[in-house]
Amino acid sequence: MNRELVLVVDFGGQYNQLIARRVREANVYCEIIPFNYPLEKIKEKNPSGIIFTGGPSSVYGENAPMVNKELFTLGIPVLGICYGAQLMAHTLEGNVTRADKREYGKTKIKYEDSKLFKGMKSDSVCWMSHTDYIEKAPAGFTCSASTADCPVAAMENVEQKLYAVQFHPEVEHTEEGFKIIRNFLYEVCGLKGTWTMGSFVDEKVKEIKAAVGDKKVLCALSGGVDSSVAAVLVHKAIGDNLTCIFVDHGLLRKDEGDQVESIFKEHFHMHLIRVNAQERFLSKLAGVAEPEAKRKIIGEEFIRVFEEESHKLGKMDFLVQGTIYPDVIESGSGESGASVIKSHHNVGGLPEDVDFEIVEPLRELFKDEVRLLGLELGIAEDLVFRHPFPGPGLGIRVIGEVTKEKCDILREADAIYMEELKKAGLYREIWQAFAVLPDVMTVGVMGDERTYSHLVGLRAVASSDGMTVDWYKMPYEVLERISTRIVNEVEHVNRVVYDITSKPPGTIEWE
Ligand code: XMP
Repeated sequence: MNRELVLVVDFGGQYNQLIARRVREANVYCEIIPFNYPLEKIKEKNPSGIIFTGGPSSVYGENAPMVNKELFTLGIPVLGICYGAQLMAHTLEGNVTRADKREYGKTKIKYEDSKLFKGMKSDSVCWMSHTDYIEKAPAGFTCSASTADCPVAAMENVEQKLYAVQFHPEVEHTEEGFKIIRNFLYEVCGLKGTWTMGSFVDEKVKEIKAAVGDKKVLCALSGGVDSSVAAVLVHKAIGDNLTCIFVDHGLLRKDEGDQVESIFKEHFHMHLIRVNAQERFLSKLAGVAEPEAKRKIIGEEFIRVFEEESHKLGKMDFLVQGTIYPDVIESGSGESGASVIKSHHNVGGLPEDVDFEIVEPLRELFKDEVRLLGLELGIAEDLVFRHPFPGPGLGIRVIGEVTKEKCDILREADAIYMEELKKAGLYREIWQAFAVLPDVMTVGVMGDERTYSHLVGLRAVASSDGMTVDWYKMPYEVLERISTRIVNEVEHVNRVVYDITSKPPGTIEWE
């Protein structure tokens, strides 16, 4: 593969993924590797630049992560950030010292003349978060920035292309910080920034074609962003050799099944099998109220339906998975797959006894990049920016026993909720929003009549990853419109409440 590559060496800092994203936003492809990644493999990858991230360690700590000193002699430009800067200073025999107190927060900084700070104002503000600091730069280095508490806030050895900053250029609190990363990439590493979604599509299409040839590929399409984008990309590469199975378990949102069918069948002309298995799922769920039992039933039934359908198709060689980069990093497999194909015999949620090779064309992308790719491939914005939706669907949003009637009530309420969020221009800034049917009946009065009907719960959360979330501070007038419409328009609902619980201690879903 002939593309510009930067390696981001992970020392465990909280902003590591952010650094990788900033690099990619500068149209340079990068991969995150662990700090103990073998030097030989780094050489093989032949990156145009290396960035050391921050991390919680002290270079004097017992198990402090270190790197091979030879890394600094390869002629590959290196940018050390925070711990990465201290490590560079320490390894090259400068002097790193422990301060009495941690320097934390926005800090005034003065930049000297440097390629790294090209086009930036010299008096600026940076974001500091460190205890150790570089007291003296190694021989051959000059100091290129300073703050009141930090004599060497940045240092460089131009000849050896080694650069280091004590602060965090990747966070927004550092004024013009992204420019520092761009300057490193363009001015120091000499990169051009040619990595775009268009070029990614061309590259992946070629790779998929080469790996799959004219063999048969299967995809379990859920209608969610990741599986949809993966399917369209693979379809672009191999056309009708891709078959998608879409299991409609009856626990989808309003009109969702029809939308998925129309997008992929009619718009993209893909070979899509929609399995209408609503009855099957509902009869299995009858009388079951416990959340984990419901999840298990839905998961197992999904596998069964999928298996039955795929057996009808005869031998399939590959299976498409919508795995994305954060899954790859979190699962500890470190670097993103150099190729789109990986051998695998047991994929979560899918049959265990079939041998597929797995096609994972999104393994290298962050979620927002998957969305950009979706747009690039011509997938409608409505689908591309859709909130995450759990596999068990409304099965875990109808609290207690799931019935078709309850699902229908919830579908109507949820559709109104989403429509109003979109009208108010709030949908995209919310990480995830949905209605819940808590299986609670309450008393109300409508006209002159007493009612005894369902309660609907509204959930909306703000987050950047879904791991921790804040409840979304929804404007009252929007809440009021939603509540009024739901109670007026959805039969069997007479009360609406808004969930004001963060995660932790709550979870996003109610079950
Ligand atoms: P929680 O409720 O655990 O949800 O805070 C975190 C994210 O995961 C989704 N979620 C699921 N997704 N199967 C899925 O595929 C599940 O059983 C499941 N439970 C929760 C949830 O919608 C949120 O995005």
